[in-house]
Amino acid sequence: MNFTSKIKPLILNYLLDLLMSPAKSRKGRSPFGAEELKLLRQALLSQNLCCIDGRMVPALEREFAFAYGAPYAVASTSGTAAIHVALGALDLNPTDEVITAPITDLGTIIPILYQNAIPVFADIDETYNMDPADVERKITPQTRAIIVVHLFGNPCNMDAMVDIAKRHNIPLIEDCSQAHMTQYKGRYVGTIGDIGCFSFQQSKHMTTGDGGMTITGNRAYYERMKLFADKGYARKGWGARAYLFHAPNYRMTELVGAVGLAQLKKVRSVVEKRFELGRYLTELLADIPHTIPAPVTANAEHSYWMYPIGLNAVDVDLFSKAMVKEKIHVLPGYTGKPIYLCSESLTAKKTYGDSQWPFSCVKTGRKYEYVEGLCPRAEEALKRLVCLTWDETWVKKDVKRVAETIDRYMRELAKPRLARATHDDSRLVNGGRVAVNEPKHRKVRIGIVGCGQIGRWHLDAYKRNPAAELIAFVDTDVERAEKFAKDTRANVYASHKDMLEAEDLDGVSVCTVPSTHRDIVVDMTKAGVNILCEKPLAVNASQAKEMYESAKSKNLLLLTAFKFRFYDEVLNAKELLLQASLGKILSFRLMFGGYLDMAGSWYAQREFSGGGVVMDNGPHAVDLVRYLFGEIESVSAHFSRHQKLDVEDTAKLLVRMRSDIVGVVDLSWSVSVPSQTYLEIYGENGTIHLDPEGLAYKFKIWKEWKRIHNQSTVKEAFGRQVAHFVDGILGKETSFLGNGEGMKAQLVIDASYESARLGTSVNVSELWVHTHAHEPTHRS
Ligand SMILES: Cc1ncc(COP(=O)(O)O)c(C=O)c1O
Repeated sequence: MNFTSKIKPLILNYLLDLLMSPAKSRKGRSPFGAEELKLLRQALLSQNLCCIDGRMVPALEREFAFAYGAPYAVASTSGTAAIHVALGALDLNPTDEVITAPITDLGTIIPILYQNAIPVFADIDETYNMDPADVERKITPQTRAIIVVHLFGNPCNMDAMVDIAKRHNIPLIEDCSQAHMTQYKGRYVGTIGDIGCFSFQQSKHMTTGDGGMTITGNRAYYERMKLFADKGYARKGWGARAYLFHAPNYRMTELVGAVGLAQLKKVRSVVEKRFELGRYLTELLADIPHTIPAPVTANAEHSYWMYPIGLNAVDVDLFSKAMVKEKIHVLPGYTGKPIYLCSESLTAKKTYGDSQWPFSCVKTGRKYEYVEGLCPRAEEALKRLVCLTWDETWVKKDVKRVAETIDRYMRELAKPRLARATHDDSRLVNGGRVAVNEPKHRKVRIGIVGCGQIGRWHLDAYKRNPAAELIAFVDTDVERAEKFAKDTRANVYASHKDMLEAEDLDGVSVCTVPSTHRDIVVDMTKAGVNILCEKPLAVNASQAKEMYESAKSKNLLLLTAFKFRFYDEVLNAKELLLQASLGKILSFRLMFGGYLDMAGSWYAQREFSGGGVVMDNGPHAVDLVRYLFGEIESVSAHFSRHQKLDVEDTAKLLVRMRSDIVGVVDLSWSVSVPSQTYLEIYGENGTIHLDPEGLAYKFKIWKEWKRIHNQSTVKEAFGRQVAHFVDGILGKETSFLGNGEGMKAQLVIDASYESARLGTSVNVSELWVHTHAHEPTHRS
């Protein structure tokens, strides 16, 4: 070998590395390098990019099979395709059932529906994977396959799964999209069941951008799989073509095959690195309260496609936002909800035109509904889960920083549990007091102070809540309180003090005029009663702060009745924002208005209400904005008067969020026809419109708007707010609303009045400092 032949590959590799350098500036992982470029070059120089006469894809199939110790492999265009190829091998009949996981990517489900088969979901166990016992429970005479998903890189309990599949003679498919080269009892997942499927999508351990592979040890399956990925085309012999059955074209191109070959060489080292880093985070999480580290199945290794963390005692959304601010990428709840609630192909059976196939052709009479409650453990787990995106190029220092950030926010955001209905002797801890000798699971004792229009909403919601019992009603007009007490066993009082003396209460709804809120709330907290207070929490932020401190000192709930957070359209919008699918949010426009003649009403009398429309509608608007977009930095307010009132009846607030989003909030009692859309959110990549019936959204790449209709009525949504309060008293997490929200909203309301008075923009946090020192004097 002469000098030139030695130096030439070195120079070539150096040049190829140089060629790859722009890609390294990409954020996150940089999975591709000189090896990929070299093979891509070879593929291109071969002048053939189709795998039928190619060399790259057949080589990838051979080497992939060899690496896994599997006899056969068939390449395809995606993980979804790889699963479809596996189902193609089974030659299912329409309406056959396939049991699979509730927490997965839709790619597991799409192929089932494309074969006109029916997905049946088995609930999870503590590993987030399917619970073998529930898989067995879900087996019916129609079950024709089980697809297990090794979620996040953690293998399922394969001994149990194989045992079930064998006993019932049902083919077992492993979806290893998130678990490349991952061992269970010394064997790679994908080789333990009958067929294994892999995704090469960008985020996976081994990636070609998009691509997939299906492996099997069963010759008959392999032969059908090979045909299935290639239109069912039997490419042998002369004469007319023979397509043996209905099948798609999922052929991988040579370019993808070339990248796959290079990636295959690295994949085990990627897995080992992730495994090591994951184990380190698990160690660190052991010292962080309220966190549940990634569970690892017995006798298995976890390859950490993502690192899942269970969180107790914090609002997962708030926590995730805090992490994202620290540039730590997390997905709250992974897919947010179980996959059966995420796709309209299941929830609304939108499959083939309006046919609702396969669900409409079921001959057994069985109905399949994909609704909340189908897999309760999965539904609950996702509410407390965040997934950290994982990166094999990290070093221990990176993991340590992640753990320290988690620790910091857990300490900051974790709320003390207020009461525990599941306490050993079933005592309800009632603020500082303990009600002893309570019957097990007794109901939460509720009072309502203020028996007007809004009080009735609270009344109706408590009546529908099986965990609550109405004990007392208070109104200065006792007749009104008596009307509330009809059909209940509650007592009636003319003042809240009388009620507190006579009754032992767990919680109270305060539905009186705002000027009375402070005194009532402070008395309630002294008596150790939890409070759900109508908005505005107080007539100024200083009072709100006093109320907040008072509740805090007794470890009591003081929730403000910000009902919009519980409305379907708002929850759906929040979800879309969390998915960041709109890209950066630029601005919003919110309208809370309509025509209300306020002459003579207490709403327009400052001594009762504290102000006009800004005090009345403003807190709801501010809370909605804070809930969706974070803290408000500054506000610039402009008021006008059209009715004969002492207070403003129309206002426009221009707000700037800390995140730099800008928005307009319109408030009015005087517009005859308000805009039907009450909130519009504009992002870089799309727009959301919220209205009382639901929401519509459109991404810039779509031609049409997509509409999500509300599933619940306004009454039901209001009921959720009351249930959330009752749950909070029972010691469950109050994840939607914390004690401080009412006070923070009130501060923005104060800032608005201050801004209108001064004619300038007011910085909210500066006013906060001021509120600590003085009682604000503004109200013009
Ligand atoms: C568990 C699981 N199954 C299937 C798929 C579908 O793979 P692909 O996106 O390559 O079609 C994915 C992809 O994320 C996945 O995570």
